Amino acid sequence: MRPSHPGLNGLPKIFYFIPTILALVTSLCIIYCINLTSNYTGFLLGKPYIGSFLIQKRIPFLQIPNSIDIKTKVPLPDSGNSERLSEGELDLNIGKENNINNGVFHDKMVFLEDYKAMNKSLKIYVYPHSKDDSFANVLLPVDFKPGGNYASESYFKKCLMKSHFITKDPKEAHLFFLPFSIASLRHDPRVGVHGIQDFVRSYIYNISQAYPYWNRSGGADHFYVACHSIGRSAMEKAVDVKFNAIQVVCSASYYLSGYVAHKDASMPQIWPREGDPPKAGSTKRDKLAFFAGSNNSPVRQNLLEHWRNDSEISVHFGNLSIPYSKALSHSKFCLHVKGFEVNTARIADALFYGCVPIVIANHYDLPFTDILDWKKFSLVVATLDIPLLKEILHEISFEDYEELQRNVLEVRKHFQWHKVPENYDAFYMVMYELWLRRGLARIPVPESNQLYF
Ligand SMILES: *[C@@H]1O[C@H](CO)[C@@H](O)[C@H](O)[C@H]1NC(C)=O
Ligand SMILES: *[C@@H]1O[C@H](CO)[C@@H](O)[C@H](O)[C@H]1NC(C)=O
Ligand SMILES: *[C@@H]1O[C@H](CO)[C@@H](O)[C@H](O)[C@H]1NC(C)=O
Ligand SMILES: *[C@@H]1O[C@H](CO)[C@@H](O)[C@H](O)[C@H]1NC(C)=O
Ligand SMILES: *[C@@H]1O[C@H](CO)[C@@H](O)[C@H](O)[C@H]1NC(C)=O
Repeated sequence: MRPSHPGLNGLPKIFYFIPTILALVTSLCIIYCINLTSNYTGFLLGKPYIGSFLIQKRIPFLQIPNSIDIKTKVPLPDSGNSERLSEGELDLNIGKENNINNGVFHDKMVFLEDYKAMNKSLKIYVYPHSKDDSFANVLLPVDFKPGGNYASESYFKKCLMKSHFITKDPKEAHLFFLPFSIASLRHDPRVGVHGIQDFVRSYIYNISQAYPYWNRSGGADHFYVACHSIGRSAMEKAVDVKFNAIQVVCSASYYLSGYVAHKDASMPQIWPREGDPPKAGSTKRDKLAFFAGSNNSPVRQNLLEHWRNDSEISVHFGNLSIPYSKALSHSKFCLHVKGFEVNTARIADALFYGCVPIVIANHYDLPFTDILDWKKFSLVVATLDIPLLKEILHEISFEDYEELQRNVLEVRKHFQWHKVPENYDAFYMVMYELWLRRGLARIPVPESNQLYF
């Protein structure tokens, strides 16, 4: 005979439901929690769910209104002052409820404070080379105004060498600059594309013999800057550079074996333009999206196949009938589509002309992405979603578009080079990326050298 359970037998029926009720309550709590923490719920509830990538990528942050005039300082809650910021300063934008509007940044306060510290203390030592050096053309800054697709590399070096970040005293340097120019090596008949790897190996060997700094950290406090994608294989015979040094490059892809995310830094590819960027709203944007380029990758081929005859999305694979600048300033969105490499100057082109960039380049480690929140001023669309492009763009409300575009105008100063660097421009942003990567321990060098660090 089974033993009976007097306790249970005696209970009212309602107690049998307790586990069921508990389970129900828990499920409701979980759903509520997901609801609270998800950014996407509104879209999921309000609009059709089109594809997984889509939902992730297209949501701009719109909780707090931004000020359009970037020079107008919003009064601090307690100070009541409304002074205007001078040119180049960044507005803290502290809102009414003391909520900080991070604008285009992940954390504006942290960035501004840390940037100040960087500007005050960051010191760079550059290996000295004279005009008589047989490779002076490769090692010294160019004496002309950089232009074209790979200008970022030359601009950086020109700006750095004249900046207050330079120190002649290696003892106070946070970082050491390897001044060789990949672009110049490419064109030097003594080196050429195929000689770059040997040149770099020889250069590193020479400085590691002549100076004690390389050996202290295996090169981890050294950096170089390159914009041409040839740079990605330039370090194959100098693996310490590849694995230890900071590579500041335009061709920043998570899938390149020569690029190490977080250690290396992504530099924007910028085709320098004369004059100030056009004012907001100076043109009517009657095209939905625009792309021009050569058909040199499967991604672009895919774009061409889907959108070549479209009336709203205009894609050109050949000569344009209207000027490029006009096309950029008459489109709402401008496409950056992976070609041979993930990087091109198109993002900076779009920003310059106030066009919201659509990035279709899977695994592109976007420039300054650890400082800037790309969701606020661009859309990243997965290559797989090219067929859904029009739907994705149509889903963006007018208000959301305006917000994205306002942020484009705010962010574009970070994507410009200047002969004399201006606060928060591309040069200072790259310096800040370096600052974020500066900390490390070094082994002391022998006393006989009288170089203790
Ligand atoms: C950074 O330093 C330079 C040179 O001292 C100065 O001109 C510039 O205003 C500084 N920027 C900031 C934001 O403090
Ligand atoms: C390294 O030093 C050797 C010997 O002085 C020299 O021939 C060579 O050109 C140097 N390499 C580089 C890249 O400067
Ligand atoms: C750095 O290390 C290399 C290889 O171990 C060595 O040949 C070289 O002499 C060292 N450099 C200095 C300055 O001691
Ligand atoms: C676009 O037009 C061309 C020729 O006019 C045609 O061959 C092609 O199939 C069209 N493509 C699409 C995607 O409709
Ligand atoms: C495109 O423009 C270039 C230079 O302006 C010219 O040489 C070329 O023939 C043009 N191509 C076509 C297909 O019109």
